[in-house]
Amino acid sequence: MIGADWILAKSFFEFTVWGFFSLLVAEVLRDSYHALCHQVTWLARWHNKHHAAYRRDLSIVSLKVYQESQLYHDIVESSLLVVILTLLVLVVRQSGLWLGVAYASTFLYGASIRYFQGKVDTDYNHLPGPIDTIPSHWCVNRSYHWRHHFDNVNAYYSGVFPLVDKILGTGLSLKGKTFAITGASGALGQALIAELLKYHGKIIALTTSPDKIPAQTGVKVVPWQLDNETQLQDILEKVDILIINHGINVYTSRTSESINTSYEVNTFSALRLMDTFLATVKGNEAKATKEIWVNTSEAEVSPALSPLYELSKRALGEIVTLKRLDEACVIRKLILGPFKSQLNPYGVMTASQVAKGILFFAQRDFRDIIVTINPLTYGLFSLKETSTGLYYRLFSKSGKI
Ligand SMILES: NC(=O)c1ccc[n+]([C@@H]2O[C@H](COP(=O)([O-])OP(=O)(O)OC[C@H]3O[C@@H](n4cnc5c(N)ncnc54)[C@H](OP(=O)(O)O)[C@@H]3O)[C@@H](O)[C@H]2O)c1
Repeated sequence: MIGADWILAKSFFEFTVWGFFSLLVAEVLRDSYHALCHQVTWLARWHNKHHAAYRRDLSIVSLKVYQESQLYHDIVESSLLVVILTLLVLVVRQSGLWLGVAYASTFLYGASIRYFQGKVDTDYNHLPGPIDTIPSHWCVNRSYHWRHHFDNVNAYYSGVFPLVDKILGTGLSLKGKTFAITGASGALGQALIAELLKYHGKIIALTTSPDKIPAQTGVKVVPWQLDNETQLQDILEKVDILIINHGINVYTSRTSESINTSYEVNTFSALRLMDTFLATVKGNEAKATKEIWVNTSEAEVSPALSPLYELSKRALGEIVTLKRLDEACVIRKLILGPFKSQLNPYGVMTASQVAKGILFFAQRDFRDIIVTINPLTYGLFSLKETSTGLYYRLFSKSGKI
């Protein structure tokens, strides 16, 4: 009897595992086909009918165009999934894989009804209305997918899990965007500008020392000083991504002046910049496209042999964790290990390597971008960010009390 129960439990377990695997395969296949549709001309001709069906608020252009999009895109895509997944079942001979076939068949059924009966019944990624949430991280939501239609059609291919976007580096498009970056004359500031220019973006170099920035096509130099952050609002209105990168290191000093300067530069000016930028996140589309990247440093969790640097950067990191809870726009943290610069002449990495690393992970939509040679940081930071994030969520509220 025990033997029969064991066999039954084992079969059920195998069925479930293969079933989930087939769902994952279905989504990866669908997203890969989607990516192909944007690379292969004759597939693009069909797939573009899907793009043509929606206005910027995701309402449909007309029933006729919508039905056409069902025939040339949704029915083709789901039929392909059904065929490939059925072939997979026949080759691998695992009954759990039928779950994937059933899953794909529901899409084929839905698309067929929409095409033949003219029923407008869009999936959650295409529901019409304002974009009032930020692009989600673990699974695709409307604002994530909206960017595929209206930010860059050659990115954001994923439909449910953003796995394919993570592999292809299409989870965030940098192409043609406007970036503003503080600490622009510094080592990392210059390295990031050099990397970002490769994406044909516009760069606004925010700097306290404009003379140090070489004239370059695509880079506009804008001087700023501590305490005049709010005066940057007009400029920040047109910025897609603000990179808060300026910082100082007072090393071993512990005078009151050093305490003040460290917190003013590393923490409070960054907070004022964040707030000034957040005031520009308004309108229907800004939530989907505007972002802040904050360079908080590995000093959030590891020693930097400079107490005031650690204290002020940790305070900044905690403030970012707190502010992210409001989901006003995507806010990424840059958690960087030591690289050579005026601030840290002993850094082991180069600013150029770090800048490349930052963009690699940003394009894979990592919200916490860790670039370091210290393996402990990965574990310590994740632990700290998860626990403090949860604590702040439980014991703080958005808006005024
Ligand atoms: N180097 C490292 O090992 C390391 C590691 C982790 C994180 N970081 C962080 O990376 C960022 C860039 O640092 P970096 O290493 O590239 O150093 P850097 O070459 O010294 O650049 C820092 C820049 O910050 C700006 N800045 C300095 N004092 C300022 C002030 N009082 N007010 C406003 N801006 C000021 C300056 O840029 P402008 O002259 O253009 O204003 C300066 O060039 C910093 O936030 C730093 O904390 C560095």
